[in-house]
Amino acid sequence: MVIIKMVKVSAPGNLFFFGEHSVVYGRPAILAAIDKRTYVRIEENDNESINVSSEGYGEIETVIDSLDSITFESHEDYGHQMDPIMDLIQYFHNNISEFSHGFTAEITSDIPKESGGMSSSTAVLSAFLGALSKLYDANVSKRDYFEHLYPIQVKIHGGSASGSEITSSSMGGYNRFRIDKSADDADFNFENIGKYSYPVVVGDTGIEASTGETVPYVREGWKKDNQSYERIFDEISDIAIKGEKALVDGKIDVVGKLMDKNQDLLKTLGVSHPRLEQMVDVAREHGALGAKLSGGGKGGIMIAICKENNMEDIAEAISEIGRESYISSVGVDGLRQE
Ligand code: MEV
Repeated sequence: MVIIKMVKVSAPGNLFFFGEHSVVYGRPAILAAIDKRTYVRIEENDNESINVSSEGYGEIETVIDSLDSITFESHEDYGHQMDPIMDLIQYFHNNISEFSHGFTAEITSDIPKESGGMSSSTAVLSAFLGALSKLYDANVSKRDYFEHLYPIQVKIHGGSASGSEITSSSMGGYNRFRIDKSADDADFNFENIGKYSYPVVVGDTGIEASTGETVPYVREGWKKDNQSYERIFDEISDIAIKGEKALVDGKIDVVGKLMDKNQDLLKTLGVSHPRLEQMVDVAREHGALGAKLSGGGKGGIMIAICKENNMEDIAEAISEIGRESYISSVGVDGLRQE
């Protein structure tokens, strides 16, 4: 009897409490895995074919032999949603473990992909690498996900990225992340900062925003006026350091105030959005202790830190302005086998 090997792996999306954007410039970010996940179900084939399908994103159909002719440099940026997965498949085959046989994979996700902001592309990459690693017994350690996926993340983010979400998606929990940069050779400091159950509401603005546009947008500004941007990044850094301490000490009021300050600075950087601002204001009016955008901004999502007894009210009020809202568990498991 032939036994077909099959595995299913999932990885979570992320929320930023503090430090998106400035994290790309070597400042710390505090981020946490959220209970919205991407799933990759992968099954070996008894032939050479590789087939991947992803709800809403498209398909890949290729064969092992053709992977040798594709290189990471074959295309500079990603024109199609499935290109990063194709890069990962080719990278895995050439650098981690040669495919001894083909596979069929199916990607599904409960991370809303319309507006962006919850690192859905990172969750897909982490789950896919996890699935390949299990199927081909490659034993890739979670700490090495950064090294393997960072170049793909840089392409997705239009030329520069922190890689923070890769580490948080694979390790899970509440985390402090800081990139050590000598541009081409990025390494990172990562620390899990503990387990908490802070009441968080997420609001989806319904405004589509791509990190591939927001990160280059900030970079353009930084190139033109390095000093002013560096000063803002330093201020955000200070907020992130204080914010981590407040989170760890359970000082939720302080966390909220610092989130508000972080939002002001993100607005100064030009990555907020009028609808997002409105949602942030309404969350505060309904009793949120603090609110800000999370992720790349210019739309996407916002988060509000609340009290247990006003979460429902806040969620309802912000969903009337945006597309949707979620009451979310934060700091959940990272990569796991289902
Ligand atoms: C995007 O989700 C987070 C950013 O800080 C970009 C990055 O860290 O690479 C805006």
